[in-house]
Amino acid sequence: MRNTDRICENIGVNEDGILLFAGQNAADLANQYGTPLFLMDEDRIRDRMQTYAKGMKDAFGDYGHVLYASKAASFKRIYELAAEEGIGVDVVSCGEIATAYRAGFPMEKTCFHSNNKTDEDIRYAMECGVGVFVVDNCEELFAIEEIAREKGIVQPILLRITPGIDPHTYAAVNTGMVDSKFGSAIETGQAEQITKLTLTFSNIKLQGFHCHVGSQVFDSDVYLQSAEVMIAFIADMYEKLGFVTEKLDLGGGYGVRYTADDPQIDIAANIRQVGQTVKDLVARHNIPMPHIYMEPGRSIVADAGMTLYTMGSLKRIPGYKNYVSVDGGMTDNPRYILYGSRYTLLPATQMLAERTMVCDVVGRCCESGDVIQENVMMPDTLMRGDLIACLTTGAYNYSMASNYNRIPRPPVVMLKNGTSYVAVKRETLEDITRLDV
Ligand code: LLP
Repeated sequence: MRNTDRICENIGVNEDGILLFAGQNAADLANQYGTPLFLMDEDRIRDRMQTYAKGMKDAFGDYGHVLYASKAASFKRIYELAAEEGIGVDVVSCGEIATAYRAGFPMEKTCFHSNNKTDEDIRYAMECGVGVFVVDNCEELFAIEEIAREKGIVQPILLRITPGIDPHTYAAVNTGMVDSKFGSAIETGQAEQITKLTLTFSNIKLQGFHCHVGSQVFDSDVYLQSAEVMIAFIADMYEKLGFVTEKLDLGGGYGVRYTADDPQIDIAANIRQVGQTVKDLVARHNIPMPHIYMEPGRSIVADAGMTLYTMGSLKRIPGYKNYVSVDGGMTDNPRYILYGSRYTLLPATQMLAERTMVCDVVGRCCESGDVIQENVMMPDTLMRGDLIACLTTGAYNYSMASNYNRIPRPPVVMLKNGTSYVAVKRETLEDITRLDV
């Protein structure tokens, strides 16, 4: 198998040229479950959860915590895995809260984000016993105070702060700059104002601060810079308001390899570095050590996932282009059309064949923009019925899938110890028309 194919250890190939994922034969899985098909390697997910949990524990002892950012992949089984691995979760909507709740997840270990929580969201989150709210703005603060009073509870919260850091990632996921739609900026004085305001409420307990600068971040400096800015802010609030920060959440996790060109990140080593920096900063500012949280999503599930498609047609337009059409597309993976995201695509049933043909792998939606990837190398011998695999689709694929063109969403099948089981069923035409009156 070529090095550029093996972007994660759980990819292999057998002597018949069939792709193996988590040691299992892709063609057999496609036969059993049909395509398009989301596969997820359970051991890989657990391994990543453990890497973060151990990394945070080694760096901060009992003060280090991990929240899986479940927007990356949200279905009941994922919350069960997080519960079994002893980590918390970040949820961003009533849908994610309901999924965690119905999976039996310990709700006190959930952290509720979003830049615009409706009164209904706030009520539902409180009724489900969400542990902590990450509050984005003043309006939300007033609403939480009022609903908490109505319910006779004191709601723990963190305030979302914008540290003003550029994470050098793609614009759509860049959230830590001063002009972001998220949080309150330190630079403009609004972070201090909202902190002061929060401390006047009696049904809200301010536990600390949250920041998140961006996603698909490779540069470990970004977290060190965030820590520096946030701890200086914490020290400032301690000095000015006498407020002792119990919790500091540094946001999402590290970037992942979509292609062989992406770097490989040593998560444990990076967390160690963050740990040292945070401890030095806390000592330098002479403040009590807060509990430190990280919220990885992508790097927990991305390379645990793979999508299998069946090829329909190979259209050659002489002098122009070749198109390989598959039975999925932007409905199960909108990331190329949204962000130009790169992926590694493999001829899963012809892995030993020469790849001499440049083609665009496209979906089956009725629009030209429905492209999974451009300029992919594939064998000239590809035929209708061959399988095409798209690697590293575990994060933000199932969770961003849609029913555009009324196409049913694929199932999620988990792989574990040479066996497989369905975590999310394939949608049917019944499901598609279920809500139509
Ligand atoms: N915490 C917060 C507050 C976040 O907004 C995010 C991601 C995370 C944690 C998790 O970050 P991660 O570890 O996954 O990088 N749909 C886009 C990604 C959007 C990310 C939004 N926030 C994509 O497909 O690339």
